[in-house]
Formats: sequence, structure tokens, C-alpha cells
Amino acid sequence: MSGQRAGNGGVKADTNVEHRGEVSSRKSKTSCRYKRKIANKGANHPAAETDTRNLLCCVLMLTLLSSEDSRRLRAFFEDAGYTETSLRKHLGAAELPSRQLRNQPRLLDRTSAPIPLNVLLRWFWLALPQDHAAAAGLIPAGMLSLMLESGLLSREGDSLIPQAMFLHIDGFLVASDHASAIDNKNVEMVLWPNPTSKFLARFAVQRHSRATLDLGTGSGILSLNAARYSDAVVATDLNERAVACARFNARLNDVSNIEVMGGDCFAPVAGRRFDLILSNPPFFITPQGDYLFCENPMELDGLCRRLVKEGPDYLNEGGYMQMLCEWAQIKGQPWEERIAEWLEGTGCDAWVMKGLTQDPEEYAQHRIRETSQDPSQDAASYAGYMQYYRHRGVEAIHDGLIVMRRREGHNWVRIEEVPSTPKSNLGEMIVSTFAAHDLMQQNSGDDQLLALRPKLSPHVRLEQVCEQHEGQWHAEALTLRLINGFPFHVDVQPLVAEFLVTCDGTRTAGEAIQGLAANANAPIERVQGECLAMIRKLIERGFMIAV
Ligand SMILES: C[S@@+](CC[C@H](N)C(=O)[O-])C[C@H]1O[C@@H](n2cnc3c(N)ncnc32)[C@H](O)[C@@H]1O
Repeated sequence: MSGQRAGNGGVKADTNVEHRGEVSSRKSKTSCRYKRKIANKGANHPAAETDTRNLLCCVLMLTLLSSEDSRRLRAFFEDAGYTETSLRKHLGAAELPSRQLRNQPRLLDRTSAPIPLNVLLRWFWLALPQDHAAAAGLIPAGMLSLMLESGLLSREGDSLIPQAMFLHIDGFLVASDHASAIDNKNVEMVLWPNPTSKFLARFAVQRHSRATLDLGTGSGILSLNAARYSDAVVATDLNERAVACARFNARLNDVSNIEVMGGDCFAPVAGRRFDLILSNPPFFITPQGDYLFCENPMELDGLCRRLVKEGPDYLNEGGYMQMLCEWAQIKGQPWEERIAEWLEGTGCDAWVMKGLTQDPEEYAQHRIRETSQDPSQDAASYAGYMQYYRHRGVEAIHDGLIVMRRREGHNWVRIEEVPSTPKSNLGEMIVSTFAAHDLMQQNSGDDQLLALRPKLSPHVRLEQVCEQHEGQWHAEALTLRLINGFPFHVDVQPLVAEFLVTCDGTRTAGEAIQGLAANANAPIERVQGECLAMIRKLIERGFMIAV
């Protein structure tokens, strides 16, 4: 579940702790600070970075085209072959240019033939300026005008310079800043659809939603997906450049039920309620909190905590909020404690799925690599990161997904480490897990549970490990494993495995347990307690369903 967002870039090395205040109270200050940084970026940039990258100034905002022009522009890209599947074939692997991968020569070679697709790729994938006259031989004049009018291209002498990157993803053509914007220290960079956005989109509860909020929309990729199952989507972002970009992308993809608004956290949607809130917020825990798109600007993980605390006020009863986050573990605390406090008194049921855990050293190294390209600053950056963590007693940093559902009554909270995440969409699994917890809460008494008719899920497999001994196989361990959703597993005794497979939904739990006690010749009082505890756990984890 790692928050890998960007592969390359550059961030200042000082540890400017006094900048880390409440987001809401510093919004106007923040904007000024960001503008100043953008103005200074040329001066800070290493000399080696002067080539074409510095021409990509990334301070332009995209200008909204008419619906008709947007349609024509998208059709032109797609007809040229700028689609997910076609690009994979055309480029060999659809990877972005990366200094770490050193793939630019290969990508240049792949895009050398004089065809319209290669002109588009060199602009909007490789971020290379191209000669105006040469491009005009391959791209119709009308399209060039649209690209200039919208701000996708700018003119500099004889060159046309790209100001955006395009990815074709989930059937959408999505503009964002180019990955090299991090190199240029553009703190207002608009992030492209990346593994974390894909991850959250896969987890989204994709059932009909009357109103969905995408908080921190960036390019708008989560909104575009959510618009498919929502009557209306509100996409918000603190970064005005992201607001313009998300609006541009909604129009470009002919999606009319997305409303894009600028502002801090929930401020733009004050007084409104949603069936679904999605957020992939800036969660990196860093000393400087500079980059709007990735760095938590508050003390440690404060922004994520704030969203968890405030989010429920914007949910309809039964509505879900799903958010990626990172949180710190402070010396002497169990890893769950900090996040458990976030969830206290929210009026929501909650499931926290913890993914990767890193110690501060490892984490600092990763984040510096992701947000800085200038190795000469590494030592100072690292010292700053470590001083920040040490002063606050940070022992580890965890990443994960929080799912909350607003519900009146006595709420439950489940916080756990999850095994590796499967590739399939997991929204249905979220809904069924919440339903299973509800069922167990409604049937909290033993008598109630005994009356249910549990059955093993069709997605459960039994694995047996045998050891060889004196020319024979001997069963060592039996494991129940889920093959759908998270690959949870649980070890069971042979007798229990036999018992579980007889639970087929025709008998009550009470009848099945009596049968087991009779077979094992064991007193019912002894068997019943253990069996009920196991059935409860297996239902909550999706191994069993109750019919
Ligand atoms: C990690 S990006 C996510 C972009 C997009 N949702 C995605 O998944 O690709 C986080 C976004 O949150 C925005 N953001 C940062 N602080 C914010 C705040 N206080 N309120 C609203 N949006 C914020 C950033 O500008 C950025 O676009």
C-alpha cells in the first residue's frame, strides 16, 4: 500500500519547521509562499538541469476549451493512437521518462518516425519542445491552435513547448503536470494519475452515489471514475492549478456531472453531505511540508487526522469516506494507538488497513529520493528529516487505507495489518465486510449467533502442508485461505476444517456445533464457546457468510 507517488524531483534541504501550521489558518500565507518558490525556482536549480526541462515552467493554468473543441481534441489524440493499450505497444513499456530508469534514449528511438503520434508523445510524454514548422507538417493547424489556446503548448521562438503531460488511463485522457515539474521545484505541481490514485480508485465503494466528494482532486482522475457511478461529483483542491486542470479534464472527457471547486479541505462544501468521500491527500510526513501535492503541511500526520475528524460531518447516514494516509508511531506507543485516537467519537464505523511500515531512516531516504534530484543536498536533507523525527520521538511510519461509514449507534473500529493487496476492484469487499460486522453486532449474543445458518464462502480454499517421515506424508498444518479480496489466512485443526465444510447454510450454527461435539465425543459446553468465537471471526473476515 506504499505511497509511492513520484519518481524524481527536487526539494529544498532546510527543515523549516515554523512553516508547519494549520492549513486553514495559513492558506493565504501558503499561496504567497508557493508563488515565491516558483519565482525562485530557476535560481535554486542546479546548472546541470538547464536543458529543455527549465523551459517547462509549469506555472501556466490550463484554459477551458468549449465542449465541442474538447471533444475534437480528445478524438484527435485517440485517433492518433494515444490510448493506454496502443501506447504500451508503441513504447514497448508505457513508462514515463525517468532518470532512474535511464530510458530516454529508448523512448526517443521509439518515437523517431515522423508520425502524428510521435509528435504528441514527444510533447506530452517525453516533455520535449519541438520545432513548430516540423510539427505543423504532421499536426493539423486546427489542433495546434487548440493546444496553444488551452495552454497545453506555448510558443518560444521556433519551438512549441509542452506545458502538460497526458496519460490515457481507465478510458480517460488526463492532463497533468509533467513528472519533471518536481525537478523544477514546482510546489504547485498537479500530480498525474499514479499508483496511489489507482489504488484508491480500486478500493472505492462503486455503488450508486447521489453525491461524491473527491477532496484533493489533482488531475481529477478519481472524480472521472466516480462520475460513472455517481449522480454528481464535487472535486475540490487547494491548488488553483489543480482546479483548472481537473475542470479541463472533465470537459475533455465529456463528463458533465463533475463540479470543480477551489479551497481548503471541506471549506468549499460547507453544509453539503455526500454518500461517498474519496481522498488521496498529501500524506508524506516530512519536515518541510512544501509540496502541495504530497507533503502533509501540518505537524507530522496532522492533515490526515484533520480529515478523519472533520469528514463525518459531510457524510450522509450510511455514507462512506475512504482515504489513503500515513501516520507516525511515537516511541512507547503501540502502532495502532495514534490512529485509534483519530477515529474516536467520529460517529462512524471504521476499518483501517495498514500496509507498509518503515523506520524513519528508511522512510527519509525514500522520500528524499522521491522529491529531490540533487544529490549534493542529500546529507543536509537527511539530517533535517532525522532531526524532525527524533525530536518528535517517531519510531516508525505506517501507510494505509482508512474506510469510515457514518452510522448512528454504537460504532465498531477494526484496525489491522493486511496482507498484500490484490489487483481486482475491492469496493464490493469493503461493503460486504461492513455488512458482516453489522451482522455480528446485531447478533452479539451467543443465542443469536447459534440461530444463524453460516456457510463457508465459495472463495475459501483449504491448504495442507505435509512433511515426509519414514516414507509417509504427515499433515503438519491446515490453512484456510481466501482467494478473493485480501488473501487473509487462518490456521485450523483438522477437526475444525471438517466441521467448517459441513456448514453449508442448511443447518444453524447450533445444530452444526452439536454435530461436531457428538463426533468428537466432547462436552457441548467446551466446544460451543470456541466454535462461536471462530465463526464470528470467520464471518467478519469474509471466510463465512450467514444466510
Ligand atoms: C496526492 S494528490 C492527489 C491527486 C488525485 N486525487 C490523485 O489521486 O491522483 C493530493 C492533492 O491534494 C491537494 N491538496 C493539498 N492540500 C489540500 C488541502 N488542504 N485541501 C484540499 N486539497 C489539498 C493537492 O493540491 C493535490 O492535488
